[in-house]
Formats: sequence, C-alpha cells, structure tokens
Amino acid sequence: MTTRVGIEAFGFYVPHLYLSLDTLAERQGSDPAKFSRGIGQEKIALPAHDEDVVTLGAEAARPVIERCGTDGIDTLLFATESGVDQSKSAGIFAHALLGLPANCRNVELKQACYSATAALQLACGHVMRKPRARVLIIAADVARYDRGSSGEPTQGCGAVAMLVSAVPRIVEIEPVSGCYTEDIMDFWRPNYRRTPLVDGRFSALRYLHGLVRSWTDYQAGGGRPYGEFAQFCYHLPFSRMAEKGHGHLARQAGAEADMTRCRPGMVYSRQVGNCYAASLYLALISALENTRDDLAGRPVGLFSYGSGAVSEFFSAIVQPGYRDNLPADRHRKLLRARTEVTYETYLDLRDIPDPQDGGTALIRPAARGRYRLEKIDDHKRHYVDTGR
Ligand code: COA
Repeated sequence: MTTRVGIEAFGFYVPHLYLSLDTLAERQGSDPAKFSRGIGQEKIALPAHDEDVVTLGAEAARPVIERCGTDGIDTLLFATESGVDQSKSAGIFAHALLGLPANCRNVELKQACYSATAALQLACGHVMRKPRARVLIIAADVARYDRGSSGEPTQGCGAVAMLVSAVPRIVEIEPVSGCYTEDIMDFWRPNYRRTPLVDGRFSALRYLHGLVRSWTDYQAGGGRPYGEFAQFCYHLPFSRMAEKGHGHLARQAGAEADMTRCRPGMVYSRQVGNCYAASLYLALISALENTRDDLAGRPVGLFSYGSGAVSEFFSAIVQPGYRDNLPADRHRKLLRARTEVTYETYLDLRDIPDPQDGGTALIRPAARGRYRLEKIDDHKRHYVDTGR
C-alpha cells in the first residue's frame, strides 16, 4: 500500500501588537494608498520585548500538540532566518516549552523565506520511509527592515506550525515539485547585522523569474496543468507581489489570470505583514479558511521563494473534512483581538534586549501568550511557560 503524506494539523500565531500602515504613512509623509493599494498591506505585526521566534513558534505549535498529542513525533524542524543563536537551534527551546519527547531529532533550517518548504519536503520523505513517524515543523520569523527603507512597510512577524504525517487530514502533499536555485544578492543579512540588506526591486524581478523557472521544472516533472488548480498560494513578502506573480504565471501558462484563485490566500497576510519562512504557509491557511467554495478533493498550487535564491513550485490536494481540522475561529479571533500601537511604541519595540556584555537583562512581561522570554543572563536566554 502506498503511503499518503501531508499536513495533519496546522497552527498559526501572531502577537497582540501591530502598527497600522496609515500611521507609518503619516510619519513618513507617504500616501497611505501606496501601502494599502500599491503594496497591498494594512498592518505590521510586532513582537513585544519578551517575544521572539521561539515563543511565537511554541505558541503556534501548542494547539497542534494539544489536539494531536506527541505520539510518534520523532523530528522537529525549525525554519527561520531570524534565529536567536548562531549555533543552538531555536527548536530545542521550543521542544522544551512544548514538553516533546526526548527521543526526537531537532534542527534549525535557513534559506531566507524558503526554509519551511525544504522542511516540508524533508518531512514528507521521512514519513514515506517511516510511516508511523510524525514531524513537527515550526516556521517563525520577525521581519525587520531599516527605518525609512523601502522594505519598512512590508515588516511583520508570525509563526506557523504544521504536523506532517501519514494521516494528512488537511492537505496531502503531491510528490512532483519543480525547483530552481540561482546565486544572486537580492536580500541578505551578514552575521553582524540585525536588519537585512535588500535590493527590493531586483528581488521582486527574481521572484517572478524563480516562479517561471520552478513552474517549468514542475511541468517537466509531470506536474498538473494550470487549469486544474482551485487556488494558488504564493510566498507573500507583500500581497501585491503575489498578485503580480499570479498574473505572470497565468501568462506563462497561456491562461487568463483569475484573481479569485489567489486572493483568499492573502487575507491574513495583509493583517500581519511578511513573516518570511511562515508566509507561504500562512497563505495556505488563509486560502483554506477564506475560500467560500468547498475545496475538498481539489489541488492547490504552492510557490515558495527564498532570496539568494531558491524557488519551488509544488502542489497539495485538499482533504475531505479539512474545515473540521482547521481552527479558523481561533485564528480570526487572534487577528481581531490585537492592540494598535503608537509610532513611538513601534520605535521602542525595535530596540530589542541586547546585553552583549553578558549582563542580566530582565524583560518586562508583555506577551499575551503562554510563553515568554523572561531574561537574558550570562549570554543565555531563559524562557518560561506561564501556564496561561
Ligand atoms: N497609490 C497607489 N499605488 C501607489 C502609490 C499611490 N499613491 N504610490 C506608489 N504606488 C504603487 C507603485 O506604482 C508600485 O506599484 P507597481 O509595482 O504595480 O508599479 C507600488 O505602489 C510600490 O511602489 P514602489 O515605488 O515600487 O515602492 P518602493 O520601491 O518604495 O518599494 C519594494 C517596493 C518591493 C522595493 C519594497 O517593498 C521592498 O524593498 N520590499 C522588501 C523586499 C521584498 O519584499 N522583495 C520581494 C521579493 S521577496
């Protein structure tokens, strides 16, 4: 019997603070329509000082673990490009917070916004070989750009957790995929910098190029024809990028670009901003939770892009009963129940705790979730489970 493999459960987390892009536009003296229409974003999700990719990732994974238990989870893959340590995986901190079994491998993966897709493909391969195994993937990032830079309005943060198993209750991942790697400098962050260096317009062009090349490779590998897809989900640095990608792909396929087949995937991202590795999977959750038609049995096309650059196009089949396995109400409530911050608070939140001398930084409680960064002491990060 062939093993079916895919996503058994999804979780998404965004912290409770955000900056409205209208506020940023006002302070920058820009037209708010440039952000709302030109780049297609409304809000920037912001982490409090006691939140980072570890706490966001653990928050995203907690409902998955509560729902599905830990049986069979033998691997945790943590996908991020805003990790908290150059050596230790953020996944080890998350593993402890979540109380996962000790007989579990654990590694952090990085390739800009693409790494969660590598994690997903590796997880599928592992489950094919060992069908009783389950893999927990956590994709979490905090996207911060220089103040006043063109990337600033595209900032955001968030985390997605996915449990990959041979019981794909939400989507089955199909084996055909198309890949494309090229060595370019469109977005990168040297070890000594907190914010990336980015050639934004160049990266947008390479995104479109990577989309065509990975689609072509997907087709050459026996992929589905364009017309079969019920929805397309794209990596979302900002939602207009995906609209451009959707039009570009349609032209490549000789088809009409039907925007109703990509817009449901953008609903959450407009409210959150870029969350790098998590962004494509936030788009998939958004498409599943915001497409009115029943998608059961229908294919969804997924395009992953990580600057530097790696692109991958692949497909998933939505499973019968997927709606019963998605916590859509929880996700909508999370997005609704947030607090808007002033521009001054936004500036303060950019100043993350940084005791480079090895001193003690006690961090004021602000996170609304269950997990928080309590202090950094002697260069060690201490996380707590508040039990909330
Ligand atoms: N009302 C409506 N739309 C407006 C507008 C206004 N007042 N002013 C500008 N716009 C439109 C522009 O026409 C443009 O649309 P188009 O691309 O369809 O022509 C869009 O808003 C963006 O304007 P632009 O001047 O190109 O923005 P920018 O150069 O300041 O920033 C990026 C755009 C992509 C370069 C920037 O967001 C960035 O650096 N992002 C980070 C990197 C990134 O996300 N890369 C994507 C691939 S991963």
